[in-house]
Amino acid sequence: MVNKVMLSPSILNVDRLKVHSYLTEINDYISYIHIDVMDGRFVRNKTDGIDMYKETKRIEKKPLDVHLMVVDPLCEIDNYKDAGIITFHLETVLNTTDMKINTMEFERIIKKIKSYGAKVGVAIKPRTTVSLLINVLKDIDVILVMTVEPGYGGQQLITSTIDKISSLRKMGYKGIIEADGGINKYNSSELINKGANLLVAGTALFDSYDIRQSAKDILGIE
Ligand code: DX5
Ligand code: ZN
Repeated sequence: MVNKVMLSPSILNVDRLKVHSYLTEINDYISYIHIDVMDGRFVRNKTDGIDMYKETKRIEKKPLDVHLMVVDPLCEIDNYKDAGIITFHLETVLNTTDMKINTMEFERIIKKIKSYGAKVGVAIKPRTTVSLLINVLKDIDVILVMTVEPGYGGQQLITSTIDKISSLRKMGYKGIIEADGGINKYNSSELINKGANLLVAGTALFDSYDIRQSAKDILGIE
């Protein structure tokens, strides 16, 4: 069976000494490895993203899916040159005056990500509306819909965010829709039905007794 839904495990809270064996266990089911980069400004939390990225890149073969939760993505992209996806937050390129996209800044970031051959991802926080993306859908390979407030793993999915996925599909978006935060085997099918095709999971995978089974359950495969 061809399964078009992809899984991107978030290794944020995983013991560094165990991460490789865990990822090996679910190798058949994962398409990317999700790296959360937090600068302590865009979100309160801070991660050593570069270090985690380099270490993962050195050991793992899967493409890396870099989620930049940083106020200045343009300055950070150079650190993630060989990533499969580089995602920045839309909120970082909105004008404070009219809350519209600062097109010049937006295009500069996109150009830089593309110059490294990575897919361009744009993330939106739970309270950011999808309609802001209407004129730029064609420029984006991945839209990351945050299903929790960014900053921490292990939170509960905010159900009001789920409809954003179907809204994006109704707006005609054909690219990858990634959902991130609080995803588990109980809510993944709804996300998939609404049109998400790349699911991030941290806690539901790595805190489970049987990681392989959890990966299958989240993807809804036998
Ligand atoms: C939250 C991060 C997520 C998170 C996912 O800010 O973007 O990637 O680590 O972890 P779980 O699945 O535990 O919510
Ligand atoms: Zn993330």
